[in-house]
This record gives sequence, structure tokens and C-alpha cells, in this order.
Amino acid sequence: MNVIEEVVEILDLLYKHGWDERNGGNLSYIVTREEVSEVTNPDIVSRTFKYNCDMTDLIGKYFVITASGSYFKNMVKASEENLGILKVLDKNTLGLVWGYSSGAHPTSEAPTHLRCHIERLKVDKESRLVIHCHTTNIICMTHICPLDSKFFTETLWKMQTESIVVFPEGVAVLPWILCGGDLIGIETAKLMSEYRSVVWAQHGLFATGKSLDEVFGLIETIEKAAEIYMKICDKKIMQSISNDNLKEIAVAFNINYRKGIID
Ligand code: 13P
Ligand code: ZN
Repeated sequence: MNVIEEVVEILDLLYKHGWDERNGGNLSYIVTREEVSEVTNPDIVSRTFKYNCDMTDLIGKYFVITASGSYFKNMVKASEENLGILKVLDKNTLGLVWGYSSGAHPTSEAPTHLRCHIERLKVDKESRLVIHCHTTNIICMTHICPLDSKFFTETLWKMQTESIVVFPEGVAVLPWILCGGDLIGIETAKLMSEYRSVVWAQHGLFATGKSLDEVFGLIETIEKAAEIYMKICDKKIMQSISNDNLKEIAVAFNINYRKGIID
């Protein structure tokens, strides 16, 4: 499979899980020149897009980026319309080398994605992927829970045994901020220096990592924990995972979990 086919497979799964209705959600994935060469000539730029954010750290890198307004539902049948491969040409410019065949442009969240990549690459050289999606139960939680990273982390860790294994650094939470703008991008990227996932109140989730499988797995696990929470939060709880249980999991699986949550 080439990178476009790999990306399409994940976008289709995200749609089928119900986390990307209509044009909801977007993706950006760092790909190598060799991977681009399997799809197109990596040196022919057909259009350029200018941004205010400083992309100096990303110059020369290639990205697969979803088109603004694209429906994940349609990725399988119309990938060349809904996806683009772009090269960071200079500190403010992306150049299109493939895709957006009907004249589309990168997702409105592209500056946020690029800022997140810059922060994640500072802490993990292998980080490649940012996915934003509208995970239902995470959104539900932001309507009824305190918008606090510690509360979300502890709650999600305690919903199922695997949570602390999959996201030992926890999840960060931002209050409602207008999407598609610089402020939400700057605030999300700041949190990305410590977290791979950031919840946007009443909107969804930003998740990052090294591979399509890893990030999809992270989203699935966070959303599954949130689903369990939403199913039991108004029920009488008879027993749960304790702080000591979580510490036992951490010892058994050698997990370096975020301190200050359960200690
Ligand atoms: P785009 O269609 O521009 O990617 O926006 C979708 C979205 O989820 C905005 O947060
Ligand atoms: Zn969104």
C-alpha cells in the first residue's frame, strides 16, 4: 500500500466509528520523499498556500493533509479530491505536489496541526501524525465534567485497565476556544510538549504519535474510556479501579505515568 492508501484506510475507519461526521475532523501525516515518489513527482508544485505560523522547523518535509470541507465518508472513492500531499517550501508556505484535484485547500486546522508537529518533534523525533476527530463520548464528558486535565486523566485511567498503559502521560483539556484560529492552535501546541492528546471542549480530540496504528489506537482507547464513563456516570458504582490498582499496573508493565494525578 502507498501512503495515500494507508491514510484512506484510517480515515474510513474513523468515519465508520462515527467520529467524523460531514467534514468533521482532519489529518496531517509526515511522509518521506520516497513515499511521495510512489504517488507523484515530489518536485512539481502546482499551487502554494501561505500561513502566518512559523514553519521553519518543518522546511523540506512532506505532509499528507486532508482538504478543508472534505468528508471522511468519501475518502475511499475520491481520495485525490479530498487529500493533498504538500511540501513545506519556506517558513510560511506549503506547496501542493499531489491531490486537491477539485481546487480544494488544506484543512482550516492546518496551522494547528503544523504547530502540533513542531512541538511533538521536539520531544519525539519519530512523531509523524496528527489526527483531529469529533469523538462522541469525549465531547459528552466536556459538557458535564470539570474542564480539568487532572480530572479527565484520572477519570479515564480508572474506567478500564488499559487506559494508563496506552496514555500514561494522561490527556490535556482545553476550554471552548474558537476552532480554526491561531489561539486554539497555539494553546493546543503548548500542551503537546507534554501530552500526545488534547481534548477540545464541546468539539473533540487532537491526537498525535508515530504511526497511523498508534494514533488510531490512542483515539480508540481514550474514546472507549469516555464511553464507559458516559454509560456509568449516573449509576450507583459498586467498585472501581483504585489508585493502588493503577500503581500495580504501572509496576507490572513498567509504565512511567504522569505524577500528581493518583499520588
Ligand atoms: P475542515 O473541514 O476545515 O478540516 O474542518 C473540520 C473541523 O473539524 C474543524 O475543527
Ligand atoms: Zn473539528
